[in-house]
Amino acid sequence: MTILVTGAAGFIGMAVAERLLAQGRAVFGIDNMNDYYPVSLKRARIAALQERHGGLFTFAELDFADMDALQAALHDHPIDAIIHLGAQAGVRYSLINPHAYVRSNLAGHVNMLEVARERRVRHMVYASSSSVYGGNDSLPFRVEDRADHPVSLYAATKKADELMSETYAHLFRIPMTGLRFFTVYGPGAAPTWRCGYSPRKSFAANRSPSSTMAGCSATSPISTISSAA
Ligand SMILES: NC(=O)c1ccc[n+]([C@@H]2O[C@H](COP(=O)([O-])OP(=O)(O)OC[C@H]3O[C@@H](n4cnc5c(N)ncnc54)[C@H](O)[C@@H]3O)[C@@H](O)[C@H]2O)c1
Repeated sequence: MTILVTGAAGFIGMAVAERLLAQGRAVFGIDNMNDYYPVSLKRARIAALQERHGGLFTFAELDFADMDALQAALHDHPIDAIIHLGAQAGVRYSLINPHAYVRSNLAGHVNMLEVARERRVRHMVYASSSSVYGGNDSLPFRVEDRADHPVSLYAATKKADELMSETYAHLFRIPMTGLRFFTVYGPGAAPTWRCGYSPRKSFAANRSPSSTMAGCSATSPISTISSAA
């Protein structure tokens, strides 16, 4: 069984790939190594995975918003499941570079949905964000809360991802799970997220048989994902 992990050079993606590889699962990692934060950190993560797991780990440096490049890289590689963690992250940066969010989080997300559809994958798990709750002030947040007043473009793209995923789950019966991460922290965190902590409680709820939305409180990347994958 090969699992496609996007954003494999990212903070959460690397931790997820590490856990899967340690379990003996084959991982196909994708990342475009963009310079939102130091590329040296991303390269070190990929090098560590390659060194520790050798042939079980395949890596392709590419932009998943480029469908042709994505198809070419995946050609001849069977993919059973997708963990889509690659995205343009960050709330404040979306004020500065909105097009990066449109490209990675909208066009890129649709491309990953298309890969899931074409490959008939068993399950696609993707990262959303607690930012979809926008200005909500009723705590703790619940999956059932309205989340249609995003207060940043980043949040708007994540909400759009949820809606598009819901549509694909419904139309093509692809099991789909979205994770509304709060602040994920731990060793090796990207400089942009360092020292974050959210005391909010975690929660999870099913929305439909084929599409699930889960909220995750602040926690380490490994424990968050291993319980959800
Ligand atoms: N870390 C958190 O606290 C947190 C909170 C809420 C949501 N999230 C979401 O979780 C996911 C992972 O977050 P992270 O903290 O590991 O972020 P990260 O920035 O460390 O990792 C994301 C990775 O995706 C890659 N990427 C971005 N656009 C790409 C593209 N078009 N093609 C290929 N690769 C691309 C980046 O190079 C990066 O390595 C993201 O979707 C993020 O929005 C994270």
